[in-house]
Amino acid sequence: VLSQAGVCSRTEARAWIAAGRVRVRGEVVTDPERRVVAAHVTLDGAPLRRARHRYLVLHKPRGYVTTRRDPQGRKTVCDLLPPEHAALAPVGRLDLDTSGLLLFTNDTAFADLMTSPSAHLPKTYRIDAAPRLTDEAIAALRRGVVLRDGPTRPAQVRVLGARGRASWFEITITEGRNRQVRRMVQAAGSKVRRLVRVAIGPLALGDLPRGASRELSAAEVRALRGAASGRGSGYHSAARSAR
Ligand code: URA
Repeated sequence: VLSQAGVCSRTEARAWIAAGRVRVRGEVVTDPERRVVAAHVTLDGAPLRRARHRYLVLHKPRGYVTTRRDPQGRKTVCDLLPPEHAALAPVGRLDLDTSGLLLFTNDTAFADLMTSPSAHLPKTYRIDAAPRLTDEAIAALRRGVVLRDGPTRPAQVRVLGARGRASWFEITITEGRNRQVRRMVQAAGSKVRRLVRVAIGPLALGDLPRGASRELSAAEVRALRGAASGRGSGYHSAARSAR
């Protein structure tokens, strides 16, 4: 109820409940699994007020960890958000060395939809890899390659060119496994040198400067929801906008 109201993340809600800050019908509850009705909940003695849902896109630079707080004290993606958006949580994650489009929200239902494995929301990545991928390796990526956690779904691959002994291409995948693109490229006989997420469904990174963020429009949020729930075709628009 707390995270759905947009006042905090699920992890923070557990900590606040454990700290005795949350009451239900006037009684402190310490069990975060207890089923409750939002109207009965108070936080620090005040009724729960639903925070306005916010949706943000950040151009994540390399070298930032996708987490709200890093126990090792490294730079996090949340350090890049303007103070008024500091309570938003990243949707899914990008590796430390990956840059590009990262969504943030306090709408947990939206975040769940975007990251649901069954949504098969297409995500497009621009890749610089060496050594150069052969035509057969590109065909294998399109068909799907076998990783240690199983075969990947077919992917769209668009070759952008070759630079010296490196390949430059775009791949659109409809899964979100850990380090999936890096592992797919490795399975195809090459190694990722640079990885940039340029689109999620119908939303393209465009010319948002590195490290900058902006709020999504209501139409963009609707389009993302539509793509994740099977309405509208995120696949084609992502490929088009990443061109
Ligand atoms: N695939 C990867 O290998 N890394 C990312 O950050 C995202 C997708």
